[in-house]
Amino acid sequence: MKLISIIIFTVIVITIQAADILPGSTLLPSNSNSKWSSPNNTFSLSFLQLDPTNQNTYFAAISYNNIPIWIAGANINGGAVDSSGALRFLTNGDLQLTNGNSSDVVWSSRTANRGVSLALVDDNGNLVLRNGSGSSLWSSFDNPTDTIVPSQSFSIDHVLRSGVYSFRLRNNGNLSLLWNNSIIYYNSGLNSSANVNLTSPSLRMQPIGILSLFDPSLSNPLNVVYSSDYADEGNILRFLKLDADGNLRIYSSTQGSGTQSVRWAALTDQCQVFGYCGNFGVCSYNETGPACGCPSLNFELTDLNDSRKGCKRKVDLSNCPSNATMLQLDHAKFLTYPPELSEQIFSAGISACRFNCLVNGACVASTSLADGTGMCYIKQPNFVSGYQASTLPSTSFLKICGPSMPNPSVVSETVQEKKRGRVPGWVVALVVVASLLGLILLEGGLWWWCFRNNSKFASLSSQYALLEYASGAPVQFTFKELQRATKGFKEKLGAGGFGAVYRAVLANRSVAAVKQLEGIEQGEKQFRMEVATISSTHHLNLVRLIGFCSEGRHRLLVYEFMKNCSLDKFLFSEDHLSGRLLNWEQRFNIALGTARGITYLHEECRDCIVHCDIKPENILLDENYTAKVSDFGLAKLINPKDHRHRTLTSHVRGTRGYLAPEWLANLPITSKSDVYSYGMVLLEIVSGKRNFEVSEETNRKKCSLWAYEEFERGNMEAIMDKKLSNQEIDMEQVIRAIQVSFWCIQEQPSQRPTMGKVVQMLEGIFEIDQPPAPRAAEGSFAGAILNASSTSALSTFAASAPAPSSSSSFQTVGFQSSASAMNVERQSSSLLHSEIK
Ligand SMILES: *[C@@H]1O[C@H](CO)[C@@H](O)[C@H](O)[C@H]1NC(C)=O
Ligand SMILES: *[C@@H]1O[C@H](CO)[C@@H](O)[C@H](O)[C@H]1NC(C)=O
Ligand SMILES: *[C@@H]1O[C@H](CO)[C@@H](O)[C@H](O)[C@H]1NC(C)=O
Ligand SMILES: *[C@@H]1O[C@H](CO)[C@@H](O)[C@H](O)[C@H]1NC(C)=O
Ligand SMILES: *[C@@H]1O[C@H](CO)[C@@H](O)[C@H](O)[C@H]1NC(C)=O
Ligand SMILES: *[C@@H]1O[C@H](CO)[C@@H](O)[C@H](O)[C@H]1NC(C)=O
Ligand SMILES: *[C@@H]1O[C@H](CO)[C@@H](O)[C@H](O)[C@H]1NC(C)=O
Ligand SMILES: *[C@@H]1O[C@H](CO)[C@@H](O)[C@H](O)[C@H]1NC(C)=O
Ligand SMILES: *[C@@H]1O[C@H](CO)[C@@H](O)[C@H](O)[C@H]1NC(C)=O
Ligand SMILES: *[C@@H]1O[C@H](CO)[C@@H](O)[C@H](O)[C@H]1NC(C)=O
Repeated sequence: MKLISIIIFTVIVITIQAADILPGSTLLPSNSNSKWSSPNNTFSLSFLQLDPTNQNTYFAAISYNNIPIWIAGANINGGAVDSSGALRFLTNGDLQLTNGNSSDVVWSSRTANRGVSLALVDDNGNLVLRNGSGSSLWSSFDNPTDTIVPSQSFSIDHVLRSGVYSFRLRNNGNLSLLWNNSIIYYNSGLNSSANVNLTSPSLRMQPIGILSLFDPSLSNPLNVVYSSDYADEGNILRFLKLDADGNLRIYSSTQGSGTQSVRWAALTDQCQVFGYCGNFGVCSYNETGPACGCPSLNFELTDLNDSRKGCKRKVDLSNCPSNATMLQLDHAKFLTYPPELSEQIFSAGISACRFNCLVNGACVASTSLADGTGMCYIKQPNFVSGYQASTLPSTSFLKICGPSMPNPSVVSETVQEKKRGRVPGWVVALVVVASLLGLILLEGGLWWWCFRNNSKFASLSSQYALLEYASGAPVQFTFKELQRATKGFKEKLGAGGFGAVYRAVLANRSVAAVKQLEGIEQGEKQFRMEVATISSTHHLNLVRLIGFCSEGRHRLLVYEFMKNCSLDKFLFSEDHLSGRLLNWEQRFNIALGTARGITYLHEECRDCIVHCDIKPENILLDENYTAKVSDFGLAKLINPKDHRHRTLTSHVRGTRGYLAPEWLANLPITSKSDVYSYGMVLLEIVSGKRNFEVSEETNRKKCSLWAYEEFERGNMEAIMDKKLSNQEIDMEQVIRAIQVSFWCIQEQPSQRPTMGKVVQMLEGIFEIDQPPAPRAAEGSFAGAILNASSTSALSTFAASAPAPSSSSSFQTVGFQSSASAMNVERQSSSLLHSEIK
């Protein structure tokens, strides 16, 4: 009897040790084995060293794989203690973090004398303090720091904080990111046409990677954000975190890996985060990511060890009341967000914008938009946050004392210009005379040639035009001509990633498609160079560029017209009326043609082109259902230099699902990234389903993953599009296509075949090996690139919600990004609107 009771007692003690924490317990940083774990050891509360530069600071944190999801006292005073610290669960029921001796309380749960008798970390990662009858009197889920994990409910009373930044949910369902509790630099709201009245909204991270909004007035949760790996298999924890750089991200971490990968970010453009570079700091992009600097040599870094702390004037303005001047910053803006926005905005020319600030004693800086609106923003508060990039269509001014001293790189440029300007007078005279002589000779020659052939000037011009067509050189149109040809841009054919497409009838009666490019902030010369590259790229499976127009702000491209529309209309359209359905032979030829077109871009033409946006929408079909790849070469056009982070990622927003994993990991984008996208398209051609679709039919898994499982089982018929079921089909081709698609969507770029190889595999020239699982290396790939502490190097990628599958039980409401508060963001926002359909 006694033995039995001892055994029972031991069992109870053991279970208590595993989960429950009794009053009187203490955690110490010095003992790295001391931790309070959840019953199945997924989460634990212990002291962690999170500051790599200071080995003597410890944080009492709940962690998953050593990734902290909650830190005691983080939002009050940082919560750092040294090796003499302790976390005590006192007998009066209070949980206290102390530093040094026990009277130095860093943080407390404030639950003393309220009947708390038990603490525990549960399997969801929640630290709960309970009284005798099991009621929770305090929990870490109700007092979040910077992270939300699945099963944690985030309501309007909660706030995530990270330094000066905070994240809140508003009772209208808006998600807001704030700087210093005042400036709203990100506000993503419910689509107003959804017209919902929320009573007590709460945000939850679903384990499969969807951030959803719950409310009693909603029958189904609204899906706000999809992580890029949503519904992927594996023991993955997905969590929402407000990072120290002010960006809100979703991370994935595979159990046991100890690493985390970014799967979504609220702001694609890190430089749009207010105050990212501190006061007077200027954010820009270098090869590795966002970087902070000072506006000019009139400023110096506040903290030489941390460029994000901002800059200060070398000479204070108060020391030169009458000698203040304006420093001019080209292609720069000072971020303006509400509630600041309404303060001082007016329409004024660029010099008026400068002058108004100079004479206004309260003004420290101004920004003049060069986007045609002529808006001028006067900055009165003493905190200004700068952004400089060659693509920004704005000029800014900053009040300084004394003469402006531009940053070195700018200085060297102006010196060069001056040198160039100082050409001796006699050289100029000689050049002028020589040019004049040359012109006279040329004209004389022309006249002689015309008379000799006894032809009129008109025929000369038409011959010239003929020559242009024949040589494949692009024809230059005037904007007026294209306006006439499109009947004033009336008949819209569609809206692609780079702007709307209109039907046009050219002077020679041929029908063409005119693409009105949006957001090209590029110089005339570069534009012409890119147009030359695109138009010199001829292939049966590429849409041909006929001409272009570059006039003032207008940039248009004229393409050959495709009678049938894009591939997606045939694959996914609900109305598969007669003729709309592509048979297998057509599909296979389209797959092969597309592969040949991309191969040409990658391997055979002079300037190799990475397409960057292969998707069914960009594969057009002519009257014979020949595949023609469109929109190639444009990624480069819209994205002149190294601003890949900004422009391209915002451009690819709506087309996730086709994006190779390296986009998310901020790795180099190569032709293998196109191979990945092609693989997804190929799978869609076979299955007739979007690769990211999740439905009952796909066993509630992402279509591409489900397809691989069926493939492993040898169940090819299940993968095949049901609409083809009553047709005669070459199963050998189908199997080849399926195998090729899985090779193309391998996580590791090196494992993917080249496009040339893809063509050969499809043609059956190659024996195809059994492809490994596309995501076999889940976690190991992305995880190797990003680790827990390197937030500043994180990619600034954002993916938007994909088109929901019709059979999904989730209700999806479009959230619109409003990170682009200023008109300056014309580029990314217009892309956004056109991309998400
Ligand atoms: C705790 O530290 C404070 C100052 O840090 C000191 O005044 C106090 O005497 C110390 N108490 C004990 C018990 O050591
Ligand atoms: C631990 O428990 C949680 C919640 O019940 C569950 O989601 C998770 O898979 C479990 N982990 C392990 C390793 O059993
Ligand atoms: C525990 O707390 C709940 C709610 O605060 C209260 O109703 C209950 O009486 C408490 N139980 C004990 C044993 O204190
Ligand atoms: C943040 O706001 C407070 C007032 O709410 C103000 O005193 C403080 O100066 C602000 N911080 C910065 C860096 O401007
Ligand atoms: C909610 O967000 C939208 C932008 O998505 C914005 O237009 C609206 O003003 C916001 N509402 C509030 C109350 O902040
Ligand atoms: C929401 O509430 C407002 C006023 O509270 C009311 O006018 C409106 O009709 C409500 N909308 C819906 C969809 O219930
Ligand atoms: C880019 O900026 C970051 C942050 O300031 C810096 O650490 C890095 O060295 C810079 N890289 C280059 C190539 O200049
Ligand atoms: C900057 O770092 C150096 C060496 O790491 C250190 O000696 C110096 O005190 C730091 N300066 C500041 C202002 O923190
Ligand atoms: C203003 O500039 C003039 C000449 O540039 C100089 O003589 C004068 O001392 C300056 N005044 C102040 C207050 O710095
Ligand atoms: C808002 O929702 C309507 C219908 O639900 C949809 O047609 C529209 O495109 C959505 N707008 C945005 C900006 O998401």
